[in-house]
Amino acid sequence: MKIGIDKIGFYTPHLYVDMNKLAVARDIEPEKFTIGIGQEKMAISPVTQDAVTLAANAALNILDEQDKEQIDFVIFGTETGIDNSKSAAVYVHHLLGLHPQARAIEVKQACYGATAGIQMAKGHIALNPDSKVLVLGSDIARYGLNSSGEATQGAGAVALVISADPKLLVLEDQSAYLTEDVMDFWRPVYSDKAYVDGKLSNEKYISFFNTVWEQYKAKSGLELKDFAAICYHLPYTKMGLKALRTIMDEGTEADKERLLANYEVSKGYNKIVGNIYTGSLYLSLLSLLEQKDDLAAGSRIGLYSYGSGSVGEFFTGILQEDYRKHLHVEQHTTLLSSRTEVTVAEYEDIFEQTLPIDGSTVELNVDNDPATICVTGITDHMRQYVNKAD
Ligand code: COA
Repeated sequence: MKIGIDKIGFYTPHLYVDMNKLAVARDIEPEKFTIGIGQEKMAISPVTQDAVTLAANAALNILDEQDKEQIDFVIFGTETGIDNSKSAAVYVHHLLGLHPQARAIEVKQACYGATAGIQMAKGHIALNPDSKVLVLGSDIARYGLNSSGEATQGAGAVALVISADPKLLVLEDQSAYLTEDVMDFWRPVYSDKAYVDGKLSNEKYISFFNTVWEQYKAKSGLELKDFAAICYHLPYTKMGLKALRTIMDEGTEADKERLLANYEVSKGYNKIVGNIYTGSLYLSLLSLLEQKDDLAAGSRIGLYSYGSGSVGEFFTGILQEDYRKHLHVEQHTTLLSSRTEVTVAEYEDIFEQTLPIDGSTVELNVDNDPATICVTGITDHMRQYVNKAD
């Protein structure tokens, strides 16, 4: 049975900061951010958005009534969830009006969570071919003002419908994965900001890639020449390039040219959104599919997922006939082009506006947030949400 990605939705908040201006404010040469790290704009999340609303907004515009009938499993990958007990998936299930005969869970392993969700979804579809699974990857990346990771923040979500006979990408059976206990990035339950050993995370990202790439080749018998493109988890867009360069010598000049050119396209959305943690790899895949119009059906795309701590996986998919007809290019282009730039001072203010953690009641005004689904406040320790379309 063919199982894979049937639809991809995406959402990012309506605000961003320009990386050149952030660099100037931090007394750093702008080229460090725009070339050295490879980021041009960074999405800023207002207090009226959280991981739940970003994910719900990502899924909202891609699901039709038939999807809603068939989805019987919602898997929410996140590392910036809102509750230590109740899954973010249950909130999204309600906000989207999915039918009750469904499972809903949250999965956590840093930026790897959505990939774990996809692999679980494949198993579910294999047993239940008429079902569909909604896999969400949604996060708000916060390292802190003036911190070493500040330039690699961002916010956004992807929503993937996994089904039999998918319209976009059939996921192949072979996959290579690796777990090792590494303290390169973590966020203790008492902290709203991540702790990170940036250099170690870069090293581990690459060494995990090299290990799973070798394992994948041994398992599958495939080589670099068999790939039209490789998409990477992109905490910042230079990161994937560093990993790709380590295997370039395995190919011919034509392989190098093709893979480097497609890498450039695959970082398009990420460089103007920033790090969205669990969704980053799939935002890169979306950039490639939506921004490159001549990738042939039958092309093989490699996908490298890395979640600090650490788990890594390399897997692959085959593009389906007429896949471009099932993308939402215009919706996503408009979403990205209609955003509002904020100054560095405004970004700092927004960053400091967080929901109370002492149980007090708060009501938020959502009039200035163009998102359909927003956080409206907290009452009796319960987050309140609105779907303005209801
Ligand atoms: N022009 C062009 N490039 C410049 C530059 C300039 N003026 N100044 C610096 N650079 C380059 C550096 O040479 C370096 O490139 P390289 O990595 O190819 O050598 C790059 O910009 C980053 O500089 P560096 O000094 O390493 O940055 P940093 O110490 O501020 O740390 C991160 C960068 C990504 C490690 C840090 O932002 C971080 O910890 N982020 C969060 C963790 C993360 O994203 N990890 C990724 C794996 S999950």
